[in-house]
Amino acid sequence: MTSPSVPSSASPPSAVHVTAAHDSALKHTTGEALYIDDMPLPRGALHLALVTSPWAHARLTGIDVRAALALPGVFAVITAKDIIGPNDIGAIVPGEVLLAEDLVEYVGHPIAAVCARDEDTARRAAALVTVEGEPLPPVLALDEAIAAEHHLLPPSVFLRGNPDPELARAPHRLTGSVRVGGQDHFYLETQVALAIPGEDQDMLVHSGTQHPTEVQHLVARLLGLDMNAVTVEIRRMGGGFGGKESQATLVAGIAAVAARVTGRPCKLRLDRDTDMEVTGKRHGFLLSWEVGVDDEGGILAVDMTLAADCGWSVDLSPGVVSRALSHADNAYYYPHVRLTGLYCKTNRQSNTAFRGFGGPQGMMAAEAMLDHIARVLRLDPLEVRRRNFYGPGRDITPYHQTVEHFRLPAMLETLLASSDYAALRASVDAFNAANPTLRKGLALSPVKFGVSFNKPEMNQAGALVHVYTDGSVSLNHGGTEMGQGLFVKVAQVVAAVFGLDLDRIKPTATTTGKVPNTSPTAASSGTDLNGMAAKVAAETIRARMADHAAALFEEPVEAIRFESNRVFAGNKSLSFPELAEACHVERISLSSTGFYRTPKIHFDRTTNTGRPFLYFAHGLAVSEVAIDTLTGEWKPLRVDILHDVGASLNPAVDKGQIEGGFIQGMGWLTMEELVWDGEGRLRTHAPSTYKIPTARDVPAVFTVDLLADAPNEEATVFRSKAVGEPPLVLALSVWLALRDAVASLAPAGWEPTLAAPATPEKILMACEEARRA
Ligand code: MTE
Ligand code: MOS
Repeated sequence: MTSPSVPSSASPPSAVHVTAAHDSALKHTTGEALYIDDMPLPRGALHLALVTSPWAHARLTGIDVRAALALPGVFAVITAKDIIGPNDIGAIVPGEVLLAEDLVEYVGHPIAAVCARDEDTARRAAALVTVEGEPLPPVLALDEAIAAEHHLLPPSVFLRGNPDPELARAPHRLTGSVRVGGQDHFYLETQVALAIPGEDQDMLVHSGTQHPTEVQHLVARLLGLDMNAVTVEIRRMGGGFGGKESQATLVAGIAAVAARVTGRPCKLRLDRDTDMEVTGKRHGFLLSWEVGVDDEGGILAVDMTLAADCGWSVDLSPGVVSRALSHADNAYYYPHVRLTGLYCKTNRQSNTAFRGFGGPQGMMAAEAMLDHIARVLRLDPLEVRRRNFYGPGRDITPYHQTVEHFRLPAMLETLLASSDYAALRASVDAFNAANPTLRKGLALSPVKFGVSFNKPEMNQAGALVHVYTDGSVSLNHGGTEMGQGLFVKVAQVVAAVFGLDLDRIKPTATTTGKVPNTSPTAASSGTDLNGMAAKVAAETIRARMADHAAALFEEPVEAIRFESNRVFAGNKSLSFPELAEACHVERISLSSTGFYRTPKIHFDRTTNTGRPFLYFAHGLAVSEVAIDTLTGEWKPLRVDILHDVGASLNPAVDKGQIEGGFIQGMGWLTMEELVWDGEGRLRTHAPSTYKIPTARDVPAVFTVDLLADAPNEEATVFRSKAVGEPPLVLALSVWLALRDAVASLAPAGWEPTLAAPATPEKILMACEEARRA
């Protein structure tokens, strides 16, 4: 790994820009880290199990709970009638029920919940509930929804220039499409909530959620309470990946309603099958384009349609489709462009946020189109990419933001050299010329990822920092920890402000009672937002402490330095705890909130134009694969990544995010296949049928370099850049390399159709098609 850079300043803070272990790494390993399922239950707690729809679409006519209630140990069966407020957990648009009332819209749609003294009894009783319904015609596939124009919302359009006349005039006009499947989040910890009723109808909810404020808001609404009666707390999740942003509300909402009805603590933890059958996934898309190009493969105009399979309800689909549209350019300049996003409704789980939020699907459209241009015009795919990169005078996106500080051209040269790309290309071609059965493929793909929530109002955060009189520091902020290392990074920021060792800072559980009205931990913005809010809080306290130190030392405040757990003025010093105690005696507050709002951003949702992103994160990957053309089996041989995280706050955590994101993306594009049967039942609802990548799928040569000496030009926290989602997109290089390997079987000018996930079955079919070409 190249060493991370430190922005020039008189004395660089020692706690940031250095590797520090994840604050829970040891506890994760020993099993001591407490997840909600590990928490000791209060006396009298009940366990819940769901009753769900067996139909993809039906009118409910009756429900009989008598047999379930008769089972010893069963306390109640909760249905929509038990909800005090509106039966609605819609995240963006209203009208998405917590428990079905008269309509069920997918197989797995929750109808009721049994509350019993233990999990086993709850499940057995749930199986005894009988539901009656009249099946209605379902829409079971995306193509059906596209053909019938079965939309949840009107299409979204991004437009710049005059694409139609420019397409008509272009020397080459190509049309193509590619299909990409969804992806289950497969967090190791399934969805869980524990709701504990208190006095005055108060409700404390321990919820595995990326969005505590939304759980608080919707639980309050379901229970007919003010928000101040509901507290939502989460110390950590065993993975979220976007799946616990809106959908955690379902589980928390049912647990809270049950706790209100029974007056007892109620816990709902979905088992893996139920989690996969009930909760939404990454949106599958049909991506299609018409592109006008010149003889050298330069893009003149683009007309693209991104059709998303939203499932039965809107959920977070507007955010997903916006991000797909705002990333359908990826790294490339489209002089004239129209991008249309379709919100297709199918009778499936309600698809939701998943690492990248539609961005990866949008960027896949760009990469597939670039590959298409290169193959049809018989040009080098790398050259076509380079030719179409954003650059001076060609720097305006389809949403009219100017691309500033575009790092990919320089990064490309660095990666081509470090990966020895030209030699790799020659060796792959030589291998293919000599081998009829095994084939190799090679591809390079970039990512340019806009950082900030597309909705400007979401880009705000709060923090709460306390210094105790022994000099120890308690840190709280609105961000949630799901394994990504947010807590350690924000603790590093606070340690740097106070000049303390990292172990003096204790990150504490996220709770709506300490920091209110927060945004979800999503869009990779956790550190950018909460790190900055915590920095502001810590700086406020430090300023007060510095004033007092200046008085004690009889020195100007400018002379005060916080370093190495001490406070200095020239050769005078006090330990940090001594100064904290002295401030307390002098009645100086050692506690502060901090607040941050992202500057410069704005977006007009009526015209889909503005500056939605503060900056872009960049990355590039070269992937080499081998396929067996007789079986379709394949292997990644070598992956070289160069990724831009600005001035990394913690290089080891960032590198882990890049590696994990890349492999998760590779899973999405090559092995994770969701299969629904003709009745709309998801048949892949456990690891026995749904294959996620494991350690054995990591390429033997896997080099991840952080871009060196590259502090963010924007004033982000210690000049770092967001890292959570962008690297997932680099896995497109694996999918492109598989296409490259297949194409080697056919004459030049032939383009493989290889949808994603490119499973061995699909690779084999593509090979057979190539041989016939
Ligand atoms: N890494 C781990 N280990 N577990 C996760 O659930 N979620 C990803 C990413 N990395 C995730 C993860 C997603 S979808 C996002 S948006 C970011 O982390 C959120 O955290 P951040 O904003 O703090 O980077
Ligand atoms: Mo991430 S999909 O924004 O939670």
